[in-house]
Amino acid sequence: MQIHLIVTVATSTPPMMVDFLKLQHSDHVFVNGDGTSLLNDQGERYLDMVAGYGCLNLGHNPAPVSQAVSDYLESQGANFIQYVSIPEHTSKLADALVHLAPGKLQRVFFSNSGTEAVEAALKMAKAATGNPTIAYLENSYHGKTLGALSVTGREKHRKHFQPLVPHNVQVPFGGDIDALRRVLTEQDVGAFILELIQGEGGIHVFPNGYLQEVQALCRETDTLLMVDEIQTGLGRTGRMFACDWAEIEPDVMMLSKSLSGGLIPIGATLCTSQVWDKAYGTSDRFLLHTSTFGGGNLAAVAALATLRALLQQNIPHRAFEMGEYFKSELVRVTKQYPFIKEVRGKGLMLGIEINNDFESAVEACAREFATRLPGDWHTTYKFLPDDVHSHLELAMKRMEKAMTEMFCMKFVTKLGMDHNILTFVTANSSTVIRIQPALIITKEEIDYFVSSFASVCEDMATFNN
Ligand SMILES: Cc1ncc(COP(=O)(O)O)c(C=O)c1O
Repeated sequence: MQIHLIVTVATSTPPMMVDFLKLQHSDHVFVNGDGTSLLNDQGERYLDMVAGYGCLNLGHNPAPVSQAVSDYLESQGANFIQYVSIPEHTSKLADALVHLAPGKLQRVFFSNSGTEAVEAALKMAKAATGNPTIAYLENSYHGKTLGALSVTGREKHRKHFQPLVPHNVQVPFGGDIDALRRVLTEQDVGAFILELIQGEGGIHVFPNGYLQEVQALCRETDTLLMVDEIQTGLGRTGRMFACDWAEIEPDVMMLSKSLSGGLIPIGATLCTSQVWDKAYGTSDRFLLHTSTFGGGNLAAVAALATLRALLQQNIPHRAFEMGEYFKSELVRVTKQYPFIKEVRGKGLMLGIEINNDFESAVEACAREFATRLPGDWHTTYKFLPDDVHSHLELAMKRMEKAMTEMFCMKFVTKLGMDHNILTFVTANSSTVIRIQPALIITKEEIDYFVSSFASVCEDMATFNN
């Protein structure tokens, strides 16, 4: 009997995602990925500056990782054996991570994604401290499962999923150590979770000294310090971990994204042996948090090959040097355009904030519309009912913000259409273009991006006049 696979294709109304990709002229079908470039089914090559949202630090299909994975498959190595035996490669990976990680991180729990690595950290903190309250930063991004979402500081992602995990407390962003001090001293908090550079929040680097003060405050108040290195880790900012810049020693650290070279999903939650033992150190507790797929040998083989390649090719240092060059070149070509607010970031974790001021633009349209009514706009506006006033004001402000975001998206579209460059905005801030290529990007590719971006700025300046 022949079995037919039935594929349902959306017909009359394409889902929103398809519409969105079409609107951005980004509805490609990519058939091949190699390093920093992607080839579509029309034979057109694109420079990929998104790099799988940070999971391709070594680029698409990195040879050492692909080779290690195919060798392991070829050898028919055992894969999912982790809760019936001691998996060899997973154990070696745990060893390697503990060796590379800052401070006294000595235990590793493996999972399959960033948000799962965060879930594991949150549960670990609760189980180890007996305290349900986790402090987190405004504008943070830690993932979209319910627990991770409850420490993600962006209302847009949260509002349709209430109630989230209760008790968590948000700390104002901006490197405000006093705000954190108030929360940690006046409330009973078990752990503080933060990214070392806010990535999805729009590439925000903390002021010098902030992270050391955070660590001191956590120690003083007996609060676990949990760092999310899911995006900043594995060379992205110019060191193996962004922690290394500040020389801090967290109690818990989360990794994912590039850990297995972008070939196999993986997540890892590292912690000190004290935290682990308190959370899961007894016969009643040691199986409290598990994952069927987490900790398989194949993902570990990929991750070990990735770590080896990162170290052998000195990729973190390379990322730092290329990042410095990239940032200075971007600043140089964009400084004459008033709509480029800032180029910021560290290593190859850069962002360009675009801010074209649409303030009063919608109001001007509304006035124009009102001139079609008898009488003048001022009189008409004055006598509109109160609720119309407040709705109009809110709608005008929101519309102006949306126009600013659409202005930014126009850069993304033009880079794609006119220059074959893939970019995107950050998840919490739609006016920041993320510049997060594979860390193997060459100087020539950086120069190509910079000259293309300058040309888009020039086009947009003309369009602006
Ligand atoms: C800092 C950080 N934490 C957690 C996550 C969630 O990772 P995932 O999308 O794999 O669940 C992300 C994803 O962008 C992230 O940037």
